[in-house]
Amino acid sequence: MSANKTLIAYETKGGATEEAARKIAETLRNKFNLEVDLVDLRKQKIPDCTPYHNIVIGGGVRAGKVYDKTLKCLENNYAGKRVAFFVSSGGAGDPKTYQKAKADYVETTLAKYPNINPVAVEAFGGRMKILGKTIFDNVDLARVEAWAEELGKKLTQ
Ligand SMILES: Cc1cc2nc3c(=O)[nH]c(=O)nc-3n(C[C@H](O)[C@H](O)[C@H](O)COP(=O)(O)O)c2cc1C
Repeated sequence: MSANKTLIAYETKGGATEEAARKIAETLRNKFNLEVDLVDLRKQKIPDCTPYHNIVIGGGVRAGKVYDKTLKCLENNYAGKRVAFFVSSGGAGDPKTYQKAKADYVETTLAKYPNINPVAVEAFGGRMKILGKTIFDNVDLARVEAWAEELGKKLTQ
């Protein structure tokens, strides 16, 4: 297991979580020299986590629930690893509902996985399109990048 090796496993249906995952990967690679593998949980199986020291798990939220494959990924044994978790949610992208969204989707979710003691968590915004029409878009990649920079510091100190 190399301290440098980082896995970002994400699940997206509308694209927001993938954009966040790519931004986190770019930041960790370019600013912190971490070796990052990105895994799309809808297209690839949950990988063998043995070689990775750092694990970032991200998923979208629909109907009040974090996506299933993301939850499945949280069941793994990450003993001895540094784990970070984020969600993409319409509610988290609105300052009026951010705190509640973070509590409902990040804190309540992680409470079900007591073996995970994360180094960083966050709830980012998302977007909703119906029949090609954007209903809302509160994705904020600058916020994602700022979080990734704080995460990178923790993973390399
Ligand atoms: C059918 C549907 C249900 C949704 N339900 C919620 C919800 O309960 N809470 C919330 O904060 N956002 C909700 N959203 C907004 C999503 O969180 C947003 O689309 C986000 O971008 C999802 O991540 P993804 O784009 O990576 O799939 C919903 C979106 C859709 C399309």
